[in-house]
Amino acid sequence: MDGVTVIDHPLIQHKLTIMRKKDTSTAGFRRLLREISTLLCYEVTRDLEMTHERIETPITQMDAPVLAGKKLVFVSILRAGNGLLEGMLELVPSARVAHIGLYRNHDTLEAIEYYFKAPEDITNRVVIVVDPMLATGNSSIAAIDKLKERGAQNIRFVCLLAAPEGIKAFRTAHPDVPVFTAAIDSHLNELGYIVPGLGDAGDRMYGTK
Ligand code: URA
Repeated sequence: MDGVTVIDHPLIQHKLTIMRKKDTSTAGFRRLLREISTLLCYEVTRDLEMTHERIETPITQMDAPVLAGKKLVFVSILRAGNGLLEGMLELVPSARVAHIGLYRNHDTLEAIEYYFKAPEDITNRVVIVVDPMLATGNSSIAAIDKLKERGAQNIRFVCLLAAPEGIKAFRTAHPDVPVFTAAIDSHLNELGYIVPGLGDAGDRMYGTK
């Protein structure tokens, strides 16, 4: 699928299977999500621009590779996005962080914004938006609309599971934003849940149901 990368590394796939099981504990689910997020972060940052810096090793001087440009921005779509954010920050501790609060109207499945806080200058930064589930696409599309309004130009989206319907809607709305996911599932059910999926990611992560 154009613009969609499925990160099918064996470690990710194995951990994802454990997360899908309905009897996996809240603690286990959270730990696995954090572990997978570091692996996803590794892939989504694979092509970051590099430059060189003159350093001194104990032996000699060298021009060594370092990340170029401004610090990354990670954007968590609340609340489930925080589960992916943690692992990403472990790998890139200097990243800036934005939070976008969106909830789904359970009748219309529309995304309603209730919170937005982002660094001022996101125009010239790589912006990585995280949300474990790309279901209808409504929340992620709304989040990226908002980030673009604030000037973001270089955006990537990372999720754990995607539904084909969500990918289609997302790529239609934002064809310039590549999607990275660990798996593409079969379809959405009538309640907007991904099938076979893993249930409600926020509830499973925080033990709220
Ligand atoms: N959000 C979830 O947490 N799970 C789904 O299956 C769909 C949206």
